[in-house]
Amino acid sequence: MSVLLDMKNICKNFTGVKANKDCNLQIEKGEVHALLGENGAGKSTLMNVLYGLYAPSSGDVIWKGQKVEIKSPKAAIELGIGMVHQHFMLIPALSVIENVVLGMHSGKKAYLDLKNAAEKFEKLSEKYNMHIDPWAEVGQLSVGQQQRLEILKALYRGADLLILDEPTAVLVPQEVDELFQIIRKLTSEGHTVIFISHKLNEVMSICDRVTVLRLGESITTIETKDTDKEELARLMVGREVSLMMDKISPKLGNVVLEVKNLECINNKGIKALKGLNLKLQAGEILGIAGVDGNGQSELVEAIVGLRKVTNGQVIINSHDVTNKSPREILDEKVGHIPEDRHKRGVALPMNLTENIMLMSYYKEPYSKGIRLHWNKIYENAEKIIEQFQIKTPSKDELMKNLSGGNQQKIVLGREISKDPNLLIAMHPVRGLDIGATEYVHERLVEQRDQGRAVLLISGELEELITLSDRIAVMYEGEIMGIVDAKDVNIQELGLMMTGAKKNAV
Ligand SMILES: Nc1ncnc2c1ncn2[C@@H]1O[C@H](COP(=O)(O)OP(=O)(O)O)[C@@H](O)[C@H]1O
Ligand SMILES: [Mg+2]
Repeated sequence: MSVLLDMKNICKNFTGVKANKDCNLQIEKGEVHALLGENGAGKSTLMNVLYGLYAPSSGDVIWKGQKVEIKSPKAAIELGIGMVHQHFMLIPALSVIENVVLGMHSGKKAYLDLKNAAEKFEKLSEKYNMHIDPWAEVGQLSVGQQQRLEILKALYRGADLLILDEPTAVLVPQEVDELFQIIRKLTSEGHTVIFISHKLNEVMSICDRVTVLRLGESITTIETKDTDKEELARLMVGREVSLMMDKISPKLGNVVLEVKNLECINNKGIKALKGLNLKLQAGEILGIAGVDGNGQSELVEAIVGLRKVTNGQVIINSHDVTNKSPREILDEKVGHIPEDRHKRGVALPMNLTENIMLMSYYKEPYSKGIRLHWNKIYENAEKIIEQFQIKTPSKDELMKNLSGGNQQKIVLGREISKDPNLLIAMHPVRGLDIGATEYVHERLVEQRDQGRAVLLISGELEELITLSDRIAVMYEGEIMGIVDAKDVNIQELGLMMTGAKKNAV
């Protein structure tokens, strides 16, 4: 094989942040090369340098043996480098073919020959088994189809090297399989792929070699056949991490949460829950799987009193709490780790102690009548900071100065220290690094082992399978089925996530 690309000692500084420090990346022609690293490791930055979006602070890019300075995406495309970003750059109101040719023609040509372009596009999509109607409106395409369109668009412009930035983040399992087939087809036709990911399974299954980035530095490059997930995790995090979670079998108690025929309306005035039923017992973790936007947010909001229930019931600890106020519901010993910690979980301009007291300042022992007992409040804050290993200079530090992982630990600590019967955790590790993720996961399982009922909503199947006892799949406001997490079949889950029903177990 020959070297296609050599990035040497690339540094990229943003004000106050060294996003890339002496990064080295060598890509061989025809390979699938993983760029693996945790959130914030510098993967996107390095690829944005290659794609001409950022000028490197220092370092060299050697492309097909020549030193190049890539000053814009247009220059990158002319060299044969294409990139599919995490957030697609398509115009929804235009047709597929208009998106493909957009920006490709100079002012000389007053009109675009869309029909010819569409023919060329169709040939290309046939060749790579990605069938997309060139005349369809992009806004009507599924997320998977939009991704394929982005890939085809890059190929149409002559990309030899295709950079895919976290391409599976938006896909359901079936679509991931399809994407992998496309990637194999691409390399068999002589293309080269850089596959950005933080998911070890995917890297092991689709990539030939992997370069690990950690805290802005390239740590090493190895062949996937010579390594395993454990080693990759260690390289990525910089210490030993356990990927497995040993769980004792659940000791089930009373029914803590029961949701009966629940209906509610979403912010657009459309029915978000369509007669949803669920039961959750003490001592178990019930996972809710599903593509974002299938009613998960509304379900949680309806349970905790943040959204009006239009039909059906929410029963917590045998009390009907339907349409009670959030405070009345939280007083039923409900802990809530909200989906968006910045919107609902924490108050960024306030300090840690205030954040910890946010939901319980009005209760004993922290207050009596109109008096706040500050010594008790401080004691509790210090206890949580210690127990949850929160990295902060002091309990008076402002929340906004903490890292995302530590902010999330504050929310977790606050909600768990309320000693809830029911703990609702929505996307509890979204955006966290492996270390913080491991910590949050262990605490959730600990809650279950201590006899609490945990409702875990997540978009990550691996997380759900590792933590849950049962997994319910939501699709368009309904439960498609409930499966035992011990003998779960990913394909079956994937089918339910796209609307196929299963008989509940
Ligand atoms: N445009 C930017 N301005 C300032 N800081 C940035 C910018 N882009 C990325 N960063 C910072 O650089 C670091 C690496 O980010 P990124 O390359 O996006 O990581 P990854 O893609 O591996 O998650 C992070 O600390 C991030 O906050
Ligand atoms: Mg990124």
